[in-house]
Amino acid sequence: MAPGQRVSSFNARRVRADIPQLTRRINGRPITYLDSGASSLQTHSVIDAMSRYYELRHANVHRGVYQTANEATDAYEGSRAAVARFINAPGEESEVVFTKNTTESFNLLAKVWGATNLGAGDVVLITQMEHHANIVPWFQLREATGVEVRFIPVGDDYRLDLTNLDELLRDVKLLSITGMSNVLGTKNRVHDLAAIAHSVGALVAVDGAQMVGHGPVDVTALDIDFLAFSGHKMLGPTGIGVLWTRESVLDTMGPFMGGGGMIADVTLDGFTPAKGVARFEAGTPPIAEAVGLHAAVRYLEGLGMDHVAAHERYLTEDALRRLDLTFDGRVRVIGPLDVIDRGGVISLDVEGVHPHDVAQVLDQFGVCVRPGHHCAKPLMRRFNLAATARASFGPYSNTADTTVLLEALEHALKMFG
Ligand code: ALA
Repeated sequence: MAPGQRVSSFNARRVRADIPQLTRRINGRPITYLDSGASSLQTHSVIDAMSRYYELRHANVHRGVYQTANEATDAYEGSRAAVARFINAPGEESEVVFTKNTTESFNLLAKVWGATNLGAGDVVLITQMEHHANIVPWFQLREATGVEVRFIPVGDDYRLDLTNLDELLRDVKLLSITGMSNVLGTKNRVHDLAAIAHSVGALVAVDGAQMVGHGPVDVTALDIDFLAFSGHKMLGPTGIGVLWTRESVLDTMGPFMGGGGMIADVTLDGFTPAKGVARFEAGTPPIAEAVGLHAAVRYLEGLGMDHVAAHERYLTEDALRRLDLTFDGRVRVIGPLDVIDRGGVISLDVEGVHPHDVAQVLDQFGVCVRPGHHCAKPLMRRFNLAATARASFGPYSNTADTTVLLEALEHALKMFG
């Protein structure tokens, strides 16, 4: 065991055995996957569920009356119900809209709810630590409607600076914030901020891309109004995401894209949208992906989300301590240095080495990290950085991953430093 390394009680070894990609070798070394912030790996159960669907049960949904068509519909709707339970949606499956990903969820929110409910004089309050999915759709709405987009700044401590919150909240109709920054790892106090926003009559949307799959997320307890997240960041497949909203809000929203599946009727004169979540799901939906997402939810429930959160907190604390011990400031963490209100995303600025070079050296050791701006350019500008090299944990990560990361970083410093 490496110096300073500790042991977690969570059985990451068993989780690792369930992830086929962790058997890969990269450049002669076992893969060290530290890019779960960009996309998580999948379990056998997720991959098998999707394969079984394609092998035996594939048909389109909500159309046919034959047996496999009914099975496919049941599988698709069963996934919706499972997702609703996973996030404790009060109105259950009637509140879960399947989208392509978090980005599409925010586009739906802005282009449907935003375009109907917001206009000149109204404010959407977001934060300086959002990634582009929770910025650009609001800028597009600003172009279309004249709505103002305002930012809660980020302080030097990498946390939201709430000093002027009362002022920032003036005329705010929607507070839209990330639950956890994909760059800094900072977790925001969603429940508290939601209560404040509600007290001035605003609704609250949360970017759950880095939250769901890393710890318990309960929309009822958080008392929020919208939650957006992606399947592929929570052990599920790409191509499926979720927008959850309260049924009372959803019922006021018009359709998103037009086409089959989202209508109640079409005549030569026009159309009547379907009721419920169907009116947001035009065309053939991501059926196999929903099946995979259901398997991911089952797997995470089996682990227990409290255990997953504790494990990732433990890994983060261990990594932050060892980075500090090993590099004596030559590798700077761009994010909070303690694990209070912090998750397992660790952005690194390595003295004298460009993040892309860092990532390339790390690749020689089989270490997968993401270099770049992480689709959060306003935040990078805030800290005068063009890029960082970001390591991020998932439920299958372990302290040995951090050991290899440190070894590879030492090599990068030797080569370039
Ligand atoms: N998927 C993006 C990331 O890597 C936003 O964090």
